[in-house]
Amino acid sequence: MDFSNSLISWYLQNKRDLPWRNTIDPYHIWLSEIMLQQTRVVQGMPYFFAFTEAFPTVFDLAKASEQEVLKLWQGLGYYSRARNLHKTAQYVAFELDGKFPDNYKALLSLKGVGDYTAAAIASFSYNEAVPVVDGNVFRVLSRVFDIDADISQPATKKIFQELAFELMPKDDPAIFNQAIMEFGALQCVPKNPDCNICVMNEGCLALKLNKVNELPVKLKKTKVTNRFFNYLVFEDSEGRTLLRQRTEKGIWHNLYEFPLIETDRELNFDEISAEIAKSSFTNNPILSIIEWNEKPQMHKLSHQNLNIKFWKVEVDDRIDGAIDHLSLIILPFPIVIHNFIEKNLKTNQ
Ligand code: ADE
Repeated sequence: MDFSNSLISWYLQNKRDLPWRNTIDPYHIWLSEIMLQQTRVVQGMPYFFAFTEAFPTVFDLAKASEQEVLKLWQGLGYYSRARNLHKTAQYVAFELDGKFPDNYKALLSLKGVGDYTAAAIASFSYNEAVPVVDGNVFRVLSRVFDIDADISQPATKKIFQELAFELMPKDDPAIFNQAIMEFGALQCVPKNPDCNICVMNEGCLALKLNKVNELPVKLKKTKVTNRFFNYLVFEDSEGRTLLRQRTEKGIWHNLYEFPLIETDRELNFDEISAEIAKSSFTNNPILSIIEWNEKPQMHKLSHQNLNIKFWKVEVDDRIDGAIDHLSLIILPFPIVIHNFIEKNLKTNQ
């Protein structure tokens, strides 16, 4: 079987018309590839359009504030990608005169650009023969060639990079990279792929050996921790509320949230009331505490399950530093908080 020819002819018949496939502009390709890390195409596409419209060039992105960039990124998750995107835009715009590095090795020096993204930009923009290896590529190659190396081990990547490089037509690396990713996304899907209609089904070793569901091998499962967040939605005598910016390391860095009491288990009403009384978010007398959602709202991140409860805390007098609801909307929030605000607080006149 000629893997590469079958793959590419499948691609030419089945590819989706995606906006970043009609360009070789490294700015657009870089944007799309950062957005599509850990994100599906349907989810990423509206963000791609929003960013290219708001920031047509790398200079526009560089000149924006981090808050604007985070706001536009809101809902896409993994916010360090947005912060790195912004820093890299500033570096390219102000240090490199707006010109992206033009080869794989130099692209790797950009913040937030790892070997996958560098390979994507180098091949799509500059036709450099470097293979992309992401989850799709692990899946396709491990199945077709029956490779049972553990993909949770960093050293395994090299095996796949070398194989992909061997298979890649050196005169058109871009089409091979697009094709193998698309094949993984549409045909050789993680669960129950339809191997009956697959163009690889005669040569696919996993199919022959009945191992499609066992490949790729990933031994180290991601460990997920449970966290319990209690958000205090203060309301002062003027109907304003308190917010804080998450400046600590970890999730949602630099995004805004309500004052938070994190606990190691779910607290009941009396317990949380006692914690609120002890807390020092404001000295104003508390008039009432109301539980907004009886059941914690579950928000799943890649390594954490957040169990979130919102508590309305009505207080007497004005709170220093409180903000009115109308002024909230320009700030970047984690999407769970944004959704809460949209549903429960009056943010328009
Ligand atoms: N996922 C990551 N990069 C992609 C691309 N260029 N096209 C489609 N899906 C992708």
